[in-house]
Amino acid sequence: MPELLGYPANWDHPQIEVMRQRGLECIAIDHYRKYCQRMLAESASRSWMFWLDEAGLGVREIHPQAPQAVRVDFVDAALQWRLRHGGGFGEMLARACRVRAGEPIRICDATAGWCQDTSLLLSLGAEVWLCERSTWMQWLIEDGILRARQDVQQRCTWLNQLHWTAMSALQWLQSAPQGACDVVYLDPMYPDRQRQARSSRAMAVLHQMLPDDPEQEPQLLTLARQIAERRIVVKRPRQADFMAQIEPHHQVFGQSSRFDIYLPCRQL
Ligand SMILES: C[S@@+](CC[C@H](N)C(=O)[O-])C[C@H]1O[C@@H](n2cnc3c(N)ncnc32)[C@H](O)[C@@H]1O
Repeated sequence: MPELLGYPANWDHPQIEVMRQRGLECIAIDHYRKYCQRMLAESASRSWMFWLDEAGLGVREIHPQAPQAVRVDFVDAALQWRLRHGGGFGEMLARACRVRAGEPIRICDATAGWCQDTSLLLSLGAEVWLCERSTWMQWLIEDGILRARQDVQQRCTWLNQLHWTAMSALQWLQSAPQGACDVVYLDPMYPDRQRQARSSRAMAVLHQMLPDDPEQEPQLLTLARQIAERRIVVKRPRQADFMAQIEPHHQVFGQSSRFDIYLPCRQL
């Protein structure tokens, strides 16, 4: 987890104090490139920091050529474009989860990350329960939700369908009653170099900062199959092995990834 929060000099925001109370070192930076050059010259061991400015809280590489910070963005322009230009219900994820126009559906997105998949599901009308176990990712998600709620153009009309649970999916699934949602969607970290090379910058950041954890997968899948009413959807790189080595009941294939679909235990 980054131990540092950077923010533009001569700028102030209540979130800086919140981050300080969370134990982070908070520093005003007037020139990011020069600051990173200095850090590198001192061969500092840190490679990432939180970055807070008027666009919100994100993470940014400590490097003179570092691009802008990566943030959770529920009003992401690319997603909006995709939805306006023929995306939506035809998206692989929507087909895999069986999200259909006019049909209410409750989905647990058990591995939130940057919430890109959640944004799509919400925008198609799904009610979404969102879990994330990494503490620093939880902070970024909370900041993203806050910005979406404060959006003056009110583009996130679907936010009242979002139930944020700052906890591990294992915890949520263990305490949820059977049938608590129709679909459990799982997209845990997967160690696939080809996929990482092709993935977006946001996903590449996650792969650099978070560990893979294949040991949890058998338990995740078992619990999900006890709780979901209709199906469990697992995102995998196209050539990857099955989650917990369990063969799915159906599959949806894309160019670089696929969705494995499992039925709930009681449907078998
Ligand atoms: C590949 S990313 C998910 C990306 C996400 N689908 C999106 O659209 O941005 C995986 C995320 O799942 C989280 N994760 C892994 N295991 C988890 C668990 N047991 N409970 C909750 N979150 C988990 C990781 O911390 C990471 O943020």
